[in-house]
Amino acid sequence: MIARKATLGAVLGVTVSTVWGQALTVDMIEQMGNNSLFTRWRPFSHFLAPSGWMNDPCGPLYDPVQGLYHLHYQFHPNHVNWGNISWGHATSPDLVTWADVDHSPGNGLAAWQDQQAESIGTTNLSSKHNPPLYNHLSIFSGSAQPVNISGHADGTLLAFYTSVSELPTAWNDPYLPGTESQSLAYSTDGGVTWQQYANNPILSDPPGNWNVTGWRDPFFLPWPQMDSLLNQSEPHYYTVFGSGIKDVGPRMPLYSAPASNLTDWTFLGALWEPVANSSLGTLIETGSYGFNFELSNFFSIDDHYFVSMGAEGGNVTFHQQKWSLWNEGTVSTRANGSIDFNPISGGASDWGILYAITSFNDTKNNRRIQYGWAWEDMNSFAITQQGFQGALSLPRELFVKETPHVVRSTTEKSLGNSQYIKSTDGSWTASTLGVRPAHDVVEGLRKASHLSRYQCKEMMCDAGQIVLPTNLSHSYEFTVNIKRTTGITGVTIAASPGREEYTNIYFDPSNNSIVFDRTHSSLIDMFLNTSYVGYFEPYQIAAKDGGKPVTEPIKMDIFVDGSLVEVFVNDRFALTSRIYPSREDSNGIALFTASGVDVEYLDMEVWDGLLNVWPNRPLNSSSLLVFDTPAKTGNYTWWAGD
Ligand SMILES: *[C@@H]1O[C@H](CO)[C@@H](O)[C@H](O)[C@H]1NC(C)=O
Ligand SMILES: *[C@@H]1O[C@H](CO)[C@@H](O)[C@H](O)[C@H]1NC(C)=O
Ligand SMILES: *[C@@H]1O[C@H](CO)[C@@H](O)[C@H](O)[C@H]1NC(C)=O
Ligand SMILES: *[C@@H]1O[C@H](CO)[C@@H](O)[C@H](O)[C@H]1NC(C)=O
Ligand SMILES: *[C@@H]1O[C@H](CO)[C@@H](O)[C@H](O)[C@H]1NC(C)=O
Ligand SMILES: *[C@@H]1O[C@H](CO)[C@@H](O)[C@H](O)[C@H]1NC(C)=O
Ligand SMILES: *[C@@H]1O[C@H](CO)[C@@H](O)[C@H](O)[C@H]1NC(C)=O
Ligand SMILES: *[C@@H]1O[C@H](CO)[C@@H](O)[C@H](O)[C@H]1NC(C)=O
Ligand SMILES: *[C@@H]1O[C@H](CO)[C@@H](O)[C@H](O)[C@H]1NC(C)=O
Ligand SMILES: *[C@@H]1O[C@H](CO)[C@@H](O)[C@H](O)[C@H]1NC(C)=O
Ligand SMILES: *[C@@H]1O[C@H](CO)[C@@H](O)[C@H](O)[C@H]1NC(C)=O
Ligand SMILES: *[C@@H]1O[C@H](CO)[C@@H](O)[C@H](O)[C@H]1NC(C)=O
Repeated sequence: MIARKATLGAVLGVTVSTVWGQALTVDMIEQMGNNSLFTRWRPFSHFLAPSGWMNDPCGPLYDPVQGLYHLHYQFHPNHVNWGNISWGHATSPDLVTWADVDHSPGNGLAAWQDQQAESIGTTNLSSKHNPPLYNHLSIFSGSAQPVNISGHADGTLLAFYTSVSELPTAWNDPYLPGTESQSLAYSTDGGVTWQQYANNPILSDPPGNWNVTGWRDPFFLPWPQMDSLLNQSEPHYYTVFGSGIKDVGPRMPLYSAPASNLTDWTFLGALWEPVANSSLGTLIETGSYGFNFELSNFFSIDDHYFVSMGAEGGNVTFHQQKWSLWNEGTVSTRANGSIDFNPISGGASDWGILYAITSFNDTKNNRRIQYGWAWEDMNSFAITQQGFQGALSLPRELFVKETPHVVRSTTEKSLGNSQYIKSTDGSWTASTLGVRPAHDVVEGLRKASHLSRYQCKEMMCDAGQIVLPTNLSHSYEFTVNIKRTTGITGVTIAASPGREEYTNIYFDPSNNSIVFDRTHSSLIDMFLNTSYVGYFEPYQIAAKDGGKPVTEPIKMDIFVDGSLVEVFVNDRFALTSRIYPSREDSNGIALFTASGVDVEYLDMEVWDGLLNVWPNRPLNSSSLLVFDTPAKTGNYTWWAGD
C-alpha cells in the first residue's frame, strides 16, 4: 500500500515508440473514399449494425421457445445518416456473441450485407389498407414480447412500435397531425419473417386531446404488481410512451390492455406531470426533464418503481439537448383509477452520450437488462469514410443498490440521486438505482483477453512507478480501485507514445464529479473535443468505532472498444463517450492524478483484447453507400438522403 504524490498527467507504461503510428490528418481523410476508414475506430466487442446508420435499441427480449435473445435497432441500411428508418435484427444465445438474422435468405447475400438484417421496414399499402398510409415513412422504436396477440407464449414474437406517416418531427417544431400512430408486427417463425397486424394502427391519436410534442416508442410488459394495485380481475399488460404537451411539459402516458387482447389499450392518465424544463432536484445532480420525453420505461425491481426516459430540450451549459434520466417513485392510485407516480430520487442513467435507453426482463436470469444507443461524436466529419454510425452500450444490469451505515448531511433539502431509509438502529441506508455491465457478459468478453493484475497491498501501486502494459489492442477493460484520494484522480487512456494525444478520465472530489476530458483526445481538429461531466457523490460511511466517517472507495471500470468508451463507477454511475485518435498507436494507459494529490490504491486490472462478438461477420462488413434522390426523400424534407 502506498500513498504518494504523483505528477499531473504522468503517462506510465508507454515506452515504446513505433513508426506505424502515423497520424491521420483532416486533408488525408477528405481525400479518402466511402468505407475506407470502416475498421479504424469500429467497436467489435459491442452490439452494432453491420454497416450504415443505426440508432435506438428496439424490442429486446428473451425467447424461451428457441432459447435465444433477440435485439433490434433503428436501422438505415446502405446510408450513413438517419432516414427511412426501419428495424434491424440480430440474435444471441447468451448476450455475448451475436449473429445478424438473414430476413431474405436464399438471395445470395450474406446476413450482414445491405438490408438483409432488416426485419421490419416501412410499407406503402396504398388503397389496400385503411388508412392507406400509416407506416410508409418510418418504423420508430418500440418493444417486444414473446407472446401472440392473445398473450399466449406459443412461439410468436410480438413487436409494438410507432408507425410514422408525416415527417419531419421534432419536439420544438409544429406537430403535423397524424405524424405518429402505434402498431403491431409479429413473427411466427422465430423472427425470420415479420408481418404487420392487419388492423394497424391500433392507436391512432394521442390521449386526451393533448397538443403533443411527440407520442412514441411504446414500452410494454406484463406486470402482476400493477394488476394487484389496480384490482384487475384478469392479467393485463401495461405500456408507457414518451410524450409531452406543448408549452406545458413532458409526459409519460400509461395504458393497459388485457393480456387476452393486446390490441385493446385503455389510457390510464399521465404517470406524473412535470413542468416543462424543470428538474427533480438540483440540475447538476438530477438533470432536466426538458420539454419532451422520448423512449420511456416504467418497471419495478423488487418493491421499487422506476421510470427512465430520454428528455429533450433541457439545454444547460454542461449538458446539451438530450438527457438520459431515471427516477424512482412511489405509486398510488388516483380517484379515477389511474396510477400516480411520485418521484423520490433520480439522476442520469448515463452522463455522456448514451441515449434512447430501454430495458427488458431477462426472464432466463430474472434480471432487468438495459441497452442504450451511443451515437458517433464525429461532428459529421469522416462519416462516409467510416461507412457507419452508432453502436449500443454493453448490456447493463439494473438493480436496487443499498448501502448501509451512510452518514447523511443534515442540510440536504432537495431530492437527489439516493433516498435515505432509517434503520431500526438509527443509521441510514442509501438506496439508489444500481447499474453495472452484466457480469456474465463481461466474463464472456474477457475470455480471450490477457490479464495484468496489480494488488496494491502486496506491491507498490504508485502512479510514478507501476508499469502498466504497453501497446494495448483495440479493445480492453481497465479497472482501478481507489481507496482514498485528496484530489483529482483517475486514469489516462488512448495515449500516443509521445503524448501527442490522450484522454483523461477522473474523479474530482472538490465538486463531486466524474470528468471525461477530451481536450487532447485527437489531433484531428474536425472532431469535437468537448468534455463530459457527471455528478458522483461518494457516500460517507459511519466508522465502526464511532470515529470520523470514511469516504467509500471509488471503483472505476472502463471499457475501451475502438471509439467507444464506457465508464462505470461504484455500480451506480455510467458515462459513455467517443474518442477518435488520429494515430494507430494511441493505445497507452496510465494512472492519472493532479499534482500534489495523495492517493491510496487498492488494486487494478487490465484485460487486453476483448472478444469480437460478431463471429459471422468479416471485420470489414461495409456495404455500398447510396445517396437518395429528391423524389425518395420528399425533396429532402423527410430525411437528408445520404
Ligand atoms: C460515396 O457514395 C456515394 C453514393 O453512392 C457516391 O455518390 C460518392 O461518389 C461516393 N464517394 C466517394 C468519395 O467515393
Ligand atoms: C424504405 O425502406 C423500405 C423497406 O426496406 C423499402 O421498401 C423502400 O424502398 C425504402 N424507401 C426508400 C425511399 O428508400
Ligand atoms: C406511397 O404511395 C403513395 C400512393 O401511391 C405515393 O404517393 C407515395 O409517394 C408513396 N410513398 C413512398 C414513400 O413511397
Ligand atoms: C395464441 O396462442 C394460443 C395458444 O396456442 C391460441 O389458442 C390463440 O388462438 C393464439 N392467438 C392468436 C391471435 O393467434
Ligand atoms: C399547440 O401548440 C402550439 C405551440 O405552442 C400552438 O401554436 C398551437 O396553437 C397549439 N394547438 C392547439 C390545438 O392548442
Ligand atoms: C383496490 O381494492 C382495494 C381494496 O378493496 C381498494 O382499497 C382500492 O381503492 C382499490 N383500487 C382501485 C384502483 O380500485
Ligand atoms: C380486441 O380489442 C379490439 C379493440 O378494442 C376489438 O376491436 C377486438 O374485437 C378485440 N378482440 C377480441 C378477440 O376480443
Ligand atoms: C385521472 O386523473 C388524473 C389526474 O387528474 C389525470 O391526469 C388523468 O388523465 C385521469 N385519467 C383519465 C383516464 O382521464
Ligand atoms: C431551461 O432551463 C435552463 C436551466 O434552468 C435554462 O438555462 C434554459 O434557458 C431553459 N430553456 C428554455 C428554452 O427555457
Ligand atoms: C440546445 O443546444 C443545441 C446545441 O447547442 C442547439 O442547437 C439547440 O438549438 C438548443 N436548444 C434550445 C431549446 O435551446
Ligand atoms: C421477470 O418476469 C418474471 C415472470 O413474469 C417475473 O416473475 C420476474 O419478477 C420478472 N423479473 C424482473 C427482474 O423484472
Ligand atoms: C424541391 O426543392 C427545390 C429547392 O427548394 C425546389 O426548387 C423544387 O421545386 C422542389 N421540388 C419539388 C418537387 O417540390
